[in-house]
Formats: sequence, structure tokens, C-alpha cells
Amino acid sequence: MYKAPGRINIIGEHTDYNDGYVLPFAIDKYIYLDIKKSDTYLFHSKNSNQEISLKNLMKTDTWADYIIGVILELEKRAGKIPPFKFYIDSDLPIGAGLSSSAALEIAAAYALNDILDLNLSLKDLALIGWKAENNFVGLNCGIMDQFTIALAKINHALFIDTYTQKHELIPLDLKDYNFYIIDSGIKHKLGNSEYNTRRNQCKKALNKLNKNSFREVAYEDLKNLNGLLFNRVKHILDENKRVLKTIEALKNNNIELIGNYLFESHKSLKELYEVSCEEIDFIVDFLKDKVLGARIVGGGFGGSVLVLSKSNEFEMLINELKFKYKNKYNIDLSYFKVKTSNGVEYFEEDMNI
Ligand code: GLA
Repeated sequence: MYKAPGRINIIGEHTDYNDGYVLPFAIDKYIYLDIKKSDTYLFHSKNSNQEISLKNLMKTDTWADYIIGVILELEKRAGKIPPFKFYIDSDLPIGAGLSSSAALEIAAAYALNDILDLNLSLKDLALIGWKAENNFVGLNCGIMDQFTIALAKINHALFIDTYTQKHELIPLDLKDYNFYIIDSGIKHKLGNSEYNTRRNQCKKALNKLNKNSFREVAYEDLKNLNGLLFNRVKHILDENKRVLKTIEALKNNNIELIGNYLFESHKSLKELYEVSCEEIDFIVDFLKDKVLGARIVGGGFGGSVLVLSKSNEFEMLINELKFKYKNKYNIDLSYFKVKTSNGVEYFEEDMNI
């Protein structure tokens, strides 16, 4: 079968659809996918024991749409794709800002490319997943998630310049520190519409500045903006700088600096880009002065917090945080220590389908 990892972005949030920089890596939690030729299309989720059977491809408003979107995009590149049964399993939390949807897209694209010998490159598959999300699912996302899931390597972060689509593997050695993910338990309900709204606001700012790309926008242009558009563009400019500074810090083994950038990024996402939420802010506020760094990750409006901390320090404070969070929001926080992973791959096991 095939497995496609989730991803975490160290820094560079909401920059990937604004011609900016991102620095994600793949994690060792996966969407698993097995496929078999069939007379009709069948989508089976082992987690939810849900099965969707279709004679013709159409929108289902379920998780199957991520695969259907990929099939339709592949057909544009490679002609008719015959029907298959798709079996899905997962140990990747869904809706937690870890990109389970892009993992599903890339798993499907990779599996079909492999079985049908389509000879598409990993970058092609990433772009097919990205188009499926934009054209069929309806989230006008950037290229970060699909690129990471297709191209990441274990023990590395992937620096992507989303303007040129150039990417570079950056060794990820955190010395005495580790990354943790805390899942707030808040699913991003408003996420998709607010995400597309942010995107439109950024386009509007570009028009106002009379520029074709954010690559042409500099700090001095901020004087021509005010209010909300000023805030959005300031976030993008600052966040791009933080990505470059984080890479520099990683190269110089200066992990302490990265912590500051994470807190700064959170503040900016909360105040300037306005994609955080009360529960996530509660977690980050609690962690201030207790860990090296923390921030919301992913699209926002819920999801997860990325924490950079020493293991013993983190283990000492997580119980207190869980207790306080439960008291306030009546939600049990879950968390895990993050490990890096390779991007999508085939592995010698099957699901007995
Ligand atoms: C979602 C999108 C990504 C990216 C992030 C925010 O995860 O799928 O393309 O825009 O939000 O950085």
C-alpha cells in the first residue's frame, strides 16, 4: 500500500498563496491508501467505516472529493483513468491543521501514477493535488501542503519559494529541543470561507498597490495601505523575513532564536492576519515564558499549536495545561512529540482488501 504523511510548517504561515516563503516538514503520521481495479468507483474509509460507491465521478461533499478531484486532474494530464476501489486508513488527526486532506490527495495521485505507469514527477503530483483542492474541493490553497507531502525527506525541513516553486532541503537538527503538537480540539468550521476571504483581501491589496506579485512589494509600500489591508500585507512581509531568519538560525545551530520567531509569528497571525481563535490563544499564552516557542499552525481558526521545548520541560507543564484547558473549555487536549518523515511512498504491506 501507499502512505502519505501529514505536515507541519515551522514558519511561513499564509505566505504560500502570497508568493512567499515557507519552511514545512513531513511528520510520521500518515494517510494509508490501498487501491484495486474495479467496475465502479468505491471509496472506503476504514477509520469511519464509511463507504461511497459511484458509477460516475461527481461531488460528494465528503472526504472522497479529495480523491475524485485528483482523478479529474489526472485525466486532464493523462487521459481516462479507469475506476478503482480506494481503501483509506489513517493515524493522522483529521482537521487538526496537519494537512490530512493534502495527504489524501497526494496518496491517491502517487498510487494512480504508480499503478498506471503515468511517469509523472513528484512535483507534477504535488501540482495535481493542489489543483484538485482549488478546482474541485474549492479551497484556494497555496502549494505548501502538497509540495511537502510529495517532496519532504526525513530529518529535513523543506524550504519552498512559492513564487519560483524552487525548493531546498534544510537539515533539521534541534539539538536539545523537540517539536510538539498540541491539538486544540477545535475544528476549523469557518476555516474554508475565512481562508478564501484572506486570499481575496491579499489580492485586493496587490491591486491597490498596482503590483502583479507580492515579490514586488516592499515595506515602503505599506504607506499606501491602511487598516485591514495594511495589517495583512505587514504580516506577509514580516513572516517572509522570519522564514529566512529561521533557516539562518538552523544553519548556525541557534535554536533559541527560532523560539522567538515562533512567538512573533503567532502574535502576527493573531493580531495582523486574524486567523487564530480564543482556545488556541489560551494555549499559546499559557506557554509564554515556559517553552522556547509556540504558535498556531496551518490554516487557522482552530487546529493545532506547534511547540518548541526541551522534553523534560514540556512533560512537566502539559498536565497543568490540560487541566486548565479542560476546566475552561471542557475539551481534553491531546498532544504528541513530533518526528520527521519522508514524503509519500509505497511500502510492502497491504490492507487485505
Ligand atoms: C492551509 C493551506 C496551505 C497554507 C496554510 C496557511 O494549510 O492548505 O496552503 O496556506 O493553510 O499557511
